[in-house]
Amino acid sequence: MKPFHSPFDSPNAINYISDVLSSGNTAGGGKYYNFLAQYFFKKFSRSSYFTTSCTSAMELLALTMNIQKGDEVILPTYTFPSTANAFALRGAKLVFVDSQIDHPNIDLNKLKDCITPKTRLIIPMYYGGVSLDWDVLNDIRSTFGVPILEEAAHAFGALHVKDNSSIPLGKLGDYAVFSFHETKNISCGEGGLLLVSDEKYEDSMSVSFEKGTNKREYLEKNLDFYEWRSLGSSFVGSELNAAYLLAQLEQYEAELIKRLERWRELYVGLSEISTDRWSLPIIPEFAQHNAHIFYLRFSQMDDRISFEKWMLQNEIPVSGHYRCLHSSYFGSLTKQKGSFENAISFQDGLCRITMNSEIDTSLIIDVINEYNKL
Ligand SMILES: Cc1ncc(COP(=O)(O)O)c(C=O)c1O
Repeated sequence: MKPFHSPFDSPNAINYISDVLSSGNTAGGGKYYNFLAQYFFKKFSRSSYFTTSCTSAMELLALTMNIQKGDEVILPTYTFPSTANAFALRGAKLVFVDSQIDHPNIDLNKLKDCITPKTRLIIPMYYGGVSLDWDVLNDIRSTFGVPILEEAAHAFGALHVKDNSSIPLGKLGDYAVFSFHETKNISCGEGGLLLVSDEKYEDSMSVSFEKGTNKREYLEKNLDFYEWRSLGSSFVGSELNAAYLLAQLEQYEAELIKRLERWRELYVGLSEISTDRWSLPIIPEFAQHNAHIFYLRFSQMDDRISFEKWMLQNEIPVSGHYRCLHSSYFGSLTKQKGSFENAISFQDGLCRITMNSEIDTSLIIDVINEYNKL
């Protein structure tokens, strides 16, 4: 069976990686780091930090914002543990919020009810690269004055559509993070990105980023030495990863078009199957997603489990997704009360179907059609 995720080919990757190897500068922050910074500035008009992962991008933000005990951060319960870990590591109280009734994304009405004077950060995550209602999010930000981190691990290349124009996800909040892990639409093995919209933390962030030293300032201003200035860690992605990512970025636009075509073929083909056993993804009008995930949402968990077996027997990779954080072993120690019924229904009923630009959509549709007849 083919793997569930398959990174796409980027022919220049080998050339760029060879260039890095022959230069001898394989650590982070060199020529390819700067190419990426230019690329991201052009796309997002924001300062960028290319990191070892999306997880470390969030840890960099949490450290720089000096998130600490007594602070609260609001995040979806239906997300990956990294969204929580980065802030839990700094002692913050995690406030989990349910999904929307018809989409795994965070429910913005329930989110509003969780804001308190202790809220330091709101973290909407774009499930499958699907945008959220930014009219509501902007309203929340201006009413409560709390910054927003776009948790865009899934969302590179996805857009928010408003008044006939499109804005890349990552350009709407105060901060944004992306993942370039092997499982994402665009990857460099392991890698991540933090985008920052203002200069408030510029100096302190560059110190945290450089292992707690003023190395950047030393390099820029030709100082005699650099030294330990504050807490920091090792966040920067290596030049090898940066070179691979640049090669992927060059191919991504063409790849995304093909990927979206496959997603659409699945959607249209599966819409023709009449069933009340599952439903297809619902995409709001303001979202132009990036085909990161295609899923069926089953009404019965047992049915979802037998469907997965059927698909795997037919050599079509499928997989459920997140276990809700609030009820996971570690998350349940927070003993948070609340209603999470939508997120639980996605946990129990959602089945992802393999998605990339090469999948054989007619075969997948046929196999699903057969399952519906069982
Ligand atoms: C929503 C979300 N955030 C963060 C991550 C972690 O990304 P990374 O592996 O780049 O740290 C994942 C991993 O899949 C994820 O699904």
